[in-house]
Order: sequence, then C-alpha cells, then structure tokens
Amino acid sequence: MAGSPRRSRSSGRAGAAATMAAVAGLALLAASAPSPLRAEGKPVVAASEAVRPDLVRLISRRQTELRRMGAAMRVVGRFLKAEGANIADVGASAEVIRAVAAELTPDLFPEGTAIGVGLSAARPEIWRDWDIFKERATALRTAAARLTAAATTGSAEAVRGPILEVAQACGACHELFRRKLP
Ligand code: HEC
Repeated sequence: MAGSPRRSRSSGRAGAAATMAAVAGLALLAASAPSPLRAEGKPVVAASEAVRPDLVRLISRRQTELRRMGAAMRVVGRFLKAEGANIADVGASAEVIRAVAAELTPDLFPEGTAIGVGLSAARPEIWRDWDIFKERATALRTAAARLTAAATTGSAEAVRGPILEVAQACGACHELFRRKLP
C-alpha cells in the first residue's frame, strides 16, 4: 500500500475494490471453511490414543474463539462492501480479533492438541516451530491494534490498509499451521 501512486478520483474506488477482493479472498480462506474432519464425520480420536477430555474440550473452545475472529472478519467484509456495517463495527471487530489473538499463545495452543486429537486442524509444526507460530500471532495482534486505532479516526479510508494487514496475518499463520483443506 505504502508508496502506491494516487491517480484520479476514481483510484480510491479501484483501491477499495482491490482491497475488498483481497480481504474477501483471505477472509474466505480464514473464516468460512468448515473443519474437513467435521464435514466428513471422521473418527474423532484414533483408537490407539488415550483421550484427554480436557484437551478435546480445549480444542473445541479454541475453535469457537477462532470462529469469533471469522465472524469479525465477515463484519469487516460487510463494511468494505457497504453492506450495513459501519466504522464503529469495524472497531468492535478489531477488538474481538485483538482479544482472541492475545489468547492464541500459549493459552489456546497447549501441546497435545494437534491434528488427531478431537477435531483439531492444528498442524504439529506449531510446536516444532513455536517461535514462528508465536511471531504470527504477534503479527495479528499488531495488525488488529492498528485497525482499532484507524477505526477510532472514523475514516473509512484509514482502515483499508490495516484491514488488509489483518487479513494477511490470518492467512500467514494458516498457510503454515492450519491443516490444508482437501
Ligand atoms: C498464529 C496463528 C493463527 C492466526 C494468526 C490465525 N489463525 Fe485461524 N487458525 C489457526 C489454527 C492453527 C487453526 C486450526 C485450529 C484447530 O483446528 O484447533 C485455525 C482455525 C481457524 C478457524 C476454524 C475454526 C473451526 O471452526 O474449526 C477460523 C474460522 C479461523 N482460524 C479464523 C481466523 C481469522 C479470521 C484470523 C485472523 C483474524 C485467524 N484465524 C488468524 C491459526 C491461526
């Protein structure tokens, strides 16, 4: 975004459309895909593994929290499409994202909650590359904080960059650490 030339009056619109498309794409990836395990009704835990009900419950709670972020991104999408959400809604969504992002590490991702346990779609690489995972969670917090700040200015123009940053932060973590959809 930074340094992109401003052209005519209409470039704002074109920019908005491009942002919207990018965010819609990323948010779709991030938000709307149901867990493939759930969709296929696969067994929840391999028979040989001991079930840890506490961890299975935590995974379920984790996914509920992640879906709250998905819902927040859909509100942002409605704002970009001028479909009933206003800038205050964007600010509220940013707060939800910030709160959940702060929970991601370490609370919502203890060891023993990778794919294979409950309905987890969390790749085992999370715990192998914990520093990278943490960094991606931090990047989301930073982007969400920026979105909050931009939303308080009340300027629709000001929130576009941060919205894209948030969407990219979702995708950057999913691409490494969330089970790929078939
Ligand atoms: C630091 C990494 C990370 C970041 C950042 C991240 N996610 Fe995720 N997300 C995951 C992982 C890992 C899973 C799989 C978790 C599981 O299945 O238990 C997941 C799963 C999800 C799910 C599916 C939940 C379900 O019902 O099973 C949604 C929705 C989601 N993320 C939305 C988002 C959105 C929206 C953002 C950005 C605002 C985001 N995530 C940012 C790691 C991340």
